[in-house]
This record gives sequence, structure tokens and C-alpha cells, in this order.
Amino acid sequence: MINIAVLVSGGGTNLQALIDAQNAGAFPKGKITLVLASNAKAYALERAKNHGIESVVVSRKSFADPADYDQAIIDTLKSHNIDLVVLAGFLSILGKPVIDAYPERIVNIHPSLIPSFCGAGFYGLKVHEAALSYGVKVTGATVHLVNEIPDGGRILLQKAVDILPQDTPETLQRRVMEEAEWKLLPQAVAMLTEQLSEE
Ligand code: GRF
Repeated sequence: MINIAVLVSGGGTNLQALIDAQNAGAFPKGKITLVLASNAKAYALERAKNHGIESVVVSRKSFADPADYDQAIIDTLKSHNIDLVVLAGFLSILGKPVIDAYPERIVNIHPSLIPSFCGAGFYGLKVHEAALSYGVKVTGATVHLVNEIPDGGRILLQKAVDILPQDTPETLQRRVMEEAEWKLLPQAVAMLTEQLSEE
């Protein structure tokens, strides 16, 4: 069985999509065994509790030195025998040691069609505000492997979402989540757990 850790910082709607997909049998070779939150107030922790999934808070603010934070993340993942790391609205930057500890085994969901509107500073609503102010007619979401460059790793899946004339950043974010993120992330986890099971 591939043990999956989902790293969260906020509402956890992507975590919920993964939990629902797991319960529907979308990735039988994987199991979400840990939710790791970067802050104790993340509603994603409630979602984990509601589904009996172990959770832990590893707060970036508790570590003066980024290297100590990275080590705390690695120690937490290793102590839970994690095989696959899924960043689902996780807002802390993972340093090179974490990426090296899980080569090709950390995925992230980004709410745009990378390489548009991505990289440092592009997260949450800011991504959709940038898409609307640029005037693009299509946006979407991307699942990619994580490397040291923010949103820079190999692209695994993408899904396009039309922008509507009356869209606000909030309505666009919601539609990108519903039509793209919540579909792509479970698909990517199914793909990767199959691959990792064959290794
Ligand atoms: C959202 O902006 C989503 O597009 C991105 O992270 C944010 C929070 O998502 N992936 P979630 O509801 O915490 O999963």
C-alpha cells in the first residue's frame, strides 16, 4: 500500500476531494495516512478529523532556521512511512532537503495553466486576479512534480476552464477548483500510486 501524506494550509477542499475520491475507490493502491498542516487553524484539519485521518501541525513560524523546518517535515514524513507527498493548498516553501528526500514523489496542484501565472507570489486568489487582469479567456489548473523552483517541476496533468465575462477572482477560483483541481488531483494520485506500486 502506498502511504500518502497530504500537506495543507487552508480550507482543505482539495484534501476533501482526495478523501472523497479515496472513499469512491479512485486509488485502491494508495491510502491517505497523514494530513500535515502548516498552521493549527487550517480547516483542513477538521476534515481530516471527520474522516479519522491522523493529522499533525508543523508550523513554519516555529522554526527560525528554514533548515530546521525542512528537517522537521522530513522527520514527520519518515516517521509515518510516507511514500507520496501531495501539496494541497500548502503555502510553505519546502527546501531542497525535503525534495531530495522524496525525489519525483512530491506533487502540487496549482490553480493556473503553468507556465502562466505561477512562481513566487502566485498563490490562492492572486493567481485568479492576475488571470483576470491580463484578460486571458481560458485558465485552469495544473498538477506538477515539485522541484526547487516554485511551480517549476514536470507537469503531470492540466485541465482548462473558460473565463466568463462576469467572473470575479472568487467565482473564478471556485470554478477552477470544482471543474479542474478537484478532478485533477485525485487523477494524479491514482496515476502515481499505480506507478509507485510497480516499482
Ligand atoms: C486554493 O487557492 C487552491 O486553488 C490552491 O490552494 C488554495 C486552497 O485550496 N491549490 P484548499 O481549499 O485548501 O485545498
